[in-house]
Amino acid sequence: MQYENILVETHGRVGLVRLNRPKALNALNDQLMDELGAALRLFDQDEAIGCIVLTGNEKAFAAGADIGAMANYSYMDVFKGEYITRNWEHLRRVRKPVIAAVAGYALGGGCELAMMCDFIIAADNAKFGQPEIKLGTMPGAGGTQRLPRAVSKAKAMDLCLTARMMDAVEAERSGLVSRVVPAEKLMDEAMNAANTIASMSLPTVMMIKESINRAYETTLSEGVQYERRLFHGTFATEDQKEGMKAFLEKRLPSFRNL
Ligand code: CAA
Repeated sequence: MQYENILVETHGRVGLVRLNRPKALNALNDQLMDELGAALRLFDQDEAIGCIVLTGNEKAFAAGADIGAMANYSYMDVFKGEYITRNWEHLRRVRKPVIAAVAGYALGGGCELAMMCDFIIAADNAKFGQPEIKLGTMPGAGGTQRLPRAVSKAKAMDLCLTARMMDAVEAERSGLVSRVVPAEKLMDEAMNAANTIASMSLPTVMMIKESINRAYETTLSEGVQYERRLFHGTFATEDQKEGMKAFLEKRLPSFRNL
């Protein structure tokens, strides 16, 4: 597939996708989201890839869904055609970890897209927010659902109802992002994290991602039971044998993703 709105690169076992509509601060239109979905699917299917990084540029991760594209949609346009967010669920189907490396604006759909990733590493100039209310609309790609889970009901209400932006320090303090780094170190930090993950046993990585995500969908006792089954499942992998043997032999493991 020829991409016009994203740049796709492979660095060793890490797949990197850069959102690339700089003139529109990476505003997310249907075409971009189709391309992103396709690129993520290909990385997910590629045995040679162990982790994916999603980023924008220094000024914007993404400033939201494309307002120009959706301004004149009718209810029936969005309901029947499922424009705007029809293809956003692709991200949820990716089984390998996806790290969002966020610099600059992550607003509206941009913040929602970052939250769909497995964790966010932020540059110190990152700004997060759900300003849709200023446009007479509301978050439509999970913002009202993922934000309270990430940062508490109080902060989610504050951000969605006042449209204010949250800086990187507040975002880290609130639990939205896992690390904040100087802007010039963002990509190194994200790629290092991705390389570390990609060096682990891929089936185990996928099981851990699945298990943590389960925590958001189920009760604690169901989740703990689910985790236990996956934990038991790791004993069926060659990599568990290799990992424990390597520890006992005081050497680094050599995982074969089996
Ligand atoms: N959609 C379309 N174009 C956008 C855009 C968006 N979400 N955000 C920025 N742009 C465009 C601007 O129109 C401008 O284009 P022109 O140069 O052609 O005029 C260009 O990007 C640069 O933007 P600004 O001149 O506004 O840059 P700034 O530095 O002065 O301000 C900003 C930056 C505060 C992020 C401002 O651009 C802004 O407020 N953007 C909109 C943010 C927003 O409301 N996002 C929510 C969208 S709705 C949504 O996402 C729904 C959902 O949940 C799925």
